[in-house]
Amino acid sequence: ASANAGSLTGASVTAHAVAEAAPLTILYGSQTGNAKGVATKLKEQAESRGLAVKLVSMADYKPTALKKEKFITVVVSTYGEGEPPEDAETLHEFLTTKKAPKLDGVKVAVIGLGDSSYEFFCQTAKDFEQRFNKLGAETIFQRADLDVDYEDEAATWINGALDVFEPDLKAQQEANGGQVVNMPFAASVTAASQYTKQNPFAAELSLVQKITGRDSTKDVRHVEISLEGSDITYTPGDSLGVYFLNDEVLVDEILTLTQIDAASQVKIADEELSVRDALIEKLELTQSYPGFVEKYAIATGTPELLKLVEDKAAMRAYIEPRQIFDVIRQNPAKLEAQTLVDCLRKLQARLYSIASSQAEVEDEVHLTVGVVEFDTFGSEHLGGCSGYLARRAEEGCKVKVFSEHNDNFRLPSNDDTAIIMVGPGTGIAPFRAFLQERDAREASGKNWLFFGNPHFTQDFLYQVEIQGYLKSGLLSKVDVAFSRDQAEKIYVQDKLRENSKDVFEWLESGAHFYVCGDANRMAKDVHQALLDIVKENSGKNDADAEQYLKDLRSANRYQKDVY
Ligand code: 2AM
Repeated sequence: ASANAGSLTGASVTAHAVAEAAPLTILYGSQTGNAKGVATKLKEQAESRGLAVKLVSMADYKPTALKKEKFITVVVSTYGEGEPPEDAETLHEFLTTKKAPKLDGVKVAVIGLGDSSYEFFCQTAKDFEQRFNKLGAETIFQRADLDVDYEDEAATWINGALDVFEPDLKAQQEANGGQVVNMPFAASVTAASQYTKQNPFAAELSLVQKITGRDSTKDVRHVEISLEGSDITYTPGDSLGVYFLNDEVLVDEILTLTQIDAASQVKIADEELSVRDALIEKLELTQSYPGFVEKYAIATGTPELLKLVEDKAAMRAYIEPRQIFDVIRQNPAKLEAQTLVDCLRKLQARLYSIASSQAEVEDEVHLTVGVVEFDTFGSEHLGGCSGYLARRAEEGCKVKVFSEHNDNFRLPSNDDTAIIMVGPGTGIAPFRAFLQERDAREASGKNWLFFGNPHFTQDFLYQVEIQGYLKSGLLSKVDVAFSRDQAEKIYVQDKLRENSKDVFEWLESGAHFYVCGDANRMAKDVHQALLDIVKENSGKNDADAEQYLKDLRSANRYQKDVY
């Protein structure tokens, strides 16, 4: 296609030509797809205003192209301890290097997605803005840091940002000699289900089975849900979003503490319902975050809580051990029903990595759910969704679900390609899906599993299946690290190191490497072990070994699903 903007007409234009001529570049970095969704909305809104835009994943963006940009919007999420999503890592780092170009005269606007329950809320968005500014780019619309219930605010930000960008962009488009083009929205590649985060499917909960032993320190559940009657499909590597109901006992306690009549009617968005139903079905009562403490402090005028609003560090320390209801329990005050409701944010579905393949289980979907439970302030505390699935939901009841596609965690397209899977704890989930899929497809590629957990007798999740696959030959190798079965801790990364030569040989012969599970410690330690393995077997120095892993990632041969 010709990239000559002067020859463009609305009708004959190709997506490629538009992209080349587009003055507005939308760069997105997305782990689970939310940021990509917002970026896509931004693109659609811009196009409906007659603006030509280029929407590009940071993973596919050549940093050298920055020199040619005039207008940039960044849509990026943040994970774990302030880290960028994987597809944003390279650009995030590039901007700090000497190779990064001067961006004087470039106009930029940044929107961040995150979860204010975490300390480094929207850190990656802040980084991008700061790094662009440092290179000379000017922020022309105020950054928004959006929380888990981001949809409405994202729409407002998009409108505001485009109002500011539009005059300049139109002038630029005319200067380019291009006509303002109206592109139809790109059709989605995969047929999407009618059931989404906003419109989940009420699925039957078929089975909830404890798969850790009686003496385990952990309660892990194998969960089976029926998708019968829905058009939901999924691919190994995808996640399932699950909505849940809050504990009625807690809800009634909160109503008593705030002296609210359970039948009082309240409004959430446009819906009217009783405050008790709202607290059970619609609002977050477990996962704490500063915004709640702040609103509750103001609504109740509680001095100790108001003090926290001024002190970020003290606020973090305060919410860390507490669930939302602890804050109410420890600071009870009489409230109007609607006031309490307005303090709380919308209940968010929890995402679980799917542990099954439809090639094996057809219209079922399986999950491996670690139950979040801890004792604090003299009472048992349970995670919102895991507590619901493990303790309150009954088999046969309906749970609202939707599938969330994750193209960043996929089996190799070639069935002959070998894979190495590192999945300690509930990180085993997507690998059970991978194995079911490869079994059903009679894929000939070799499969190597690393699994770890505290004790062999208590915590060997899916032991029978794994041993069966080893026997049938589907699994070529299994290495297990039962951390507390001996005096010295043994972890999956130790098992990787023990197998250094073989791991390197597999990688050199084209194997894909997958990690799923704990992001903060395990995935980092596994990455370090991989680096050491590459150095040890190739003689590379630190920088070259790091580059080797970067190249693996660019080739989609090193993929992570970590949380
Ligand atoms: P531990 O709790 O005995 O220390 C699944 O949670 C398994 O991961 C457990 O066996 C746990 O061991 C282990 N684990 C804890 N920290 C880890 C780390 N940094 N790297 C790998 N595994 C780890």
